[in-house]
Amino acid sequence: MGQEQWTDVDAYLVSLLVPSDRVLEETLASSARAGLPAINVAPNQGKLLELLARSHGARRILEIGTLGGYSTIWLARSLDREGVLISLELEELHARVATINIAAAGLDSVVRIVVGPALDSLRAMVERADEPFDFIFIDADKESYPEYFELSVALSRRGTVIVVDNVVREGAVADAASLDPRVNAVRRFLELASRDDRVTGTAVQTVGTKGYDGFALFIVR
Ligand code: SAH
Ligand code: DHB
Ligand code: MG
Repeated sequence: MGQEQWTDVDAYLVSLLVPSDRVLEETLASSARAGLPAINVAPNQGKLLELLARSHGARRILEIGTLGGYSTIWLARSLDREGVLISLELEELHARVATINIAAAGLDSVVRIVVGPALDSLRAMVERADEPFDFIFIDADKESYPEYFELSVALSRRGTVIVVDNVVREGAVADAASLDPRVNAVRRFLELASRDDRVTGTAVQTVGTKGYDGFALFIVR
């Protein structure tokens, strides 16, 4: 049991439940051609994001970490061309690739990419007292997860769902002695969230084409 089996099972599940789609395939292909890292969510995880946002009836979605727009497209599809998705991305090139992919998906009228350090963009939204989001997906640099979480809660209302990617990192999250700053930041975020009375949440380990990782999900009270 291991990566080979996880990949086989993902291929089986995806072939049944997540039919391949030209727009999403081209999103990954153009991202690869542009030299972007292949650290997008897996297809079945992308569809989970769409289903979570859809079942929540989200109308305002915030994403932190756009890359080539793969998860953005999944999430934006839950909006059925109504509402808005704001996605924050540091890299000009990533934002450019994502913009093309999102337009090809016919989602340019609902998606807005904000280029720059996400911490700055989030703080500006808090200062402007922007309307709260219904659904937030945190998936950018792991070192900033504690701050992303805090700012996300500030941009939430009662009932907002916050999903956080990559919280297990091949099990490293349980290693209190880890020297990896990303692991330590994820641990700090989880500890912060666990003590925060404004939210209730859980975290789940996952295996699949993307290896062994996991996600956390919170609801703002
Ligand atoms: N959500 C995407 C993957 C995101 S990968 C998907 O599943 O398809 C993480 C992204 O966060 C990268 O594009 C990276 O450039 C971006 N990023 C890294 N540091 C950032 C920062 N400080 N502010 C905003 N984005 C950042
Ligand atoms: C990394 C980042 C991600 O968002 C992800 O899903 C997988 C890996 C990374 O930085 O290594
Ligand atoms: Mg991720």
